[in-house]
Amino acid sequence: MTPTFRTALAFGALLPAALGLAACGGDDDKGSGSTSAGSGGGEAKTIALLLPESKTARYEAQDRPGFTNELKRLCPDCKLIYSNADQDASKQQSQAESAITNGADVLVLDPVDAESAASTVTRAKQSNIPVISYDRLIQKAPVDYYISFDNEKVGKLQGEALVKALGTPQGKSIVMINGAPTDSNAAMFKKGAHSVLDSSGVKIAKEYDTPDWSPDKAQTEMEQAITAVGKDKIDGVYAANDGTGGGAIAAMKSAGIDPKKVPVTGQDAELAGVQRIIAGEQYMTIYKAPKPETEAAAKLAVALARGEDAPAGLINGESDNGSGTPIKSVLLDPVSVTKENIKDTVVKDGTYSVDELCTKQYADACKAIGLSEAR
Ligand code: BGC
Repeated sequence: MTPTFRTALAFGALLPAALGLAACGGDDDKGSGSTSAGSGGGEAKTIALLLPESKTARYEAQDRPGFTNELKRLCPDCKLIYSNADQDASKQQSQAESAITNGADVLVLDPVDAESAASTVTRAKQSNIPVISYDRLIQKAPVDYYISFDNEKVGKLQGEALVKALGTPQGKSIVMINGAPTDSNAAMFKKGAHSVLDSSGVKIAKEYDTPDWSPDKAQTEMEQAITAVGKDKIDGVYAANDGTGGGAIAAMKSAGIDPKKVPVTGQDAELAGVQRIIAGEQYMTIYKAPKPETEAAAKLAVALARGEDAPAGLINGESDNGSGTPIKSVLLDPVSVTKENIKDTVVKDGTYSVDELCTKQYADACKAIGLSEAR
């Protein structure tokens, strides 16, 4: 047995025990835990992954497992400290503090609040711990690297899809449900969407920023919009992600509006979002392939934890976070998904199998769009 294989086994074998220990260790978050391979001959490094919330499916369904698997592959001896802040910025600050106390060699931080997370970066820097800003860009702080998608393009693609779905946009009324005001990405999605919508001829009848990206709050916002604008006067909905889109669709259904007649945008290609597209209830989503993002983050985290430079060829841009120094970045390309290209995107990549998407409830709809044959 090669040493790599042995340690890989140890990593897997210790996972449940380490999670159990973390659960009794005074940290009462459901989503938190640490994974350790034990000593591992001096090379063992500790990497902290701090994710922002669990109402949006991607974090527990894609980011956490994708990062964990790549970390295991690259560094079987590395220890992972994982936390999810459940949309609470001060909880995230304590989680980061506790990761530092527990020996983190690098923080991979997806901030709940892009501004207030700057103090966590300052704290990490005092202990010479590098920080990777993951998916959301921490503002006005000396972060070492940033990994994300072209977020303004996300908003542009959403806006373009909505305009296309409306056919003749001139004079049509839409509702805009943006993301959280504390998320730097939300501002970029909004900017990208406005860059298309504002000159398209559509009327933005109501617009909301949605605290915490909460689908429940998006549902309430949509209920308010329906009351204010009128049940028959809304032609389309810009929703910044699948969670908020799902909230808007739920509000339309309970007001007696058929969502199949009102195009709604989304983002994340969540399983539920893609299934709503199959059923014709949601018009589109944005696919941000999880693998390249989680794998780049794990690669960079391992290199930094070992005191090495970023792996060659990984960095492809720079971002401005207001700190005065451009932040070296990995910026990935988002893709627009409608029912026409589900097969060529999320299915082709293996993010979902046709069987996962086309459960009994969606069988007929899958057949109608030719998805069943992709099995
Ligand atoms: C992410 C989106 C996600 C949203 C809500 C954004 O920063 O880029 O993928 O849907 O946060 O968590």
